[in-house]
Amino acid sequence: MRLTGKGKAKDIYLADNGDIIFEFTDRVTAFDGAKKAQYPHKGKVCCSLTAYWFRVLEEKGIPTHFKEKISTNRMRVANLKILPVEVIWRNYVAGSLWRRFETGEIKLPECTEAREGALIPGGMIEFTTKFEAVDRPISTKEILDSGWMTENELDHISQITDKINDIMFNHLLRKDILLADFKIEFGRAPDGKILLADEVGTPDGCRFWDRNAFIRGELLSLDKDVFRKNKGDLSAAYIAIHNRILKE
Ligand code: TMP
Ligand code: ASP
Repeated sequence: MRLTGKGKAKDIYLADNGDIIFEFTDRVTAFDGAKKAQYPHKGKVCCSLTAYWFRVLEEKGIPTHFKEKISTNRMRVANLKILPVEVIWRNYVAGSLWRRFETGEIKLPECTEAREGALIPGGMIEFTTKFEAVDRPISTKEILDSGWMTENELDHISQITDKINDIMFNHLLRKDILLADFKIEFGRAPDGKILLADEVGTPDGCRFWDRNAFIRGELLSLDKDVFRKNKGDLSAAYIAIHNRILKE
């Protein structure tokens, strides 16, 4: 097994049989790496949650590259060619959507109130670049013009993302957690099939809000916003959301 790459939070190894091993580290970054730290337990929380969600999604018919969890913070996945776009699904106004609205860069979707925490009726999908120094939003036209994927593949990815949202949103609602938004990635297998890849359903790649606080009018973050906005100890927040999601 040899190290082939280091992401912001994961180390990536190539196994002797050609599979990929993800090692989820305790590194945390935000704002394109401008803010960095290490928090104990973070790696094992994200590894455990990603394995959990890959299994839940596979059971509901979403093909993923997951093979097996091999230790508390490592998993084996199939080696795919990762598509150069990150896919973001939003159910509520938050994060960079709210920021871009406030600076006048964008309009909010139709029938969406202009406030942080407002529901986006029907949700919305966005795409950002993946392999550029700083991720930036891109249009579907730019994705197609760049030849990164075909129109059929883009439609397929959009439909799968909508389905993943339905599955995760409803699953989390039963635990009184609102899925405000999330980011996922896809890869292409040697046979051309597109599979869900990387990390899914973790507090690094999703915004989770406490539903009871939301009903009281408060946005209580159970995810990396705790770190981005200096709202408390990341280790404690990650262990709490992990246990809440895994509890039957
Ligand atoms: P954003 O509001 O900053 O655009 O983020 C939307 C969602 O995507 C949020 O749940 C965090 C996640 N995300 C990542 O996982 N990685 C990234 O690099 C970015 C920008 C967002
Ligand atoms: N994941 C990105 C970073 O590491 C952005 C973010 O989550 O805020 O900078």
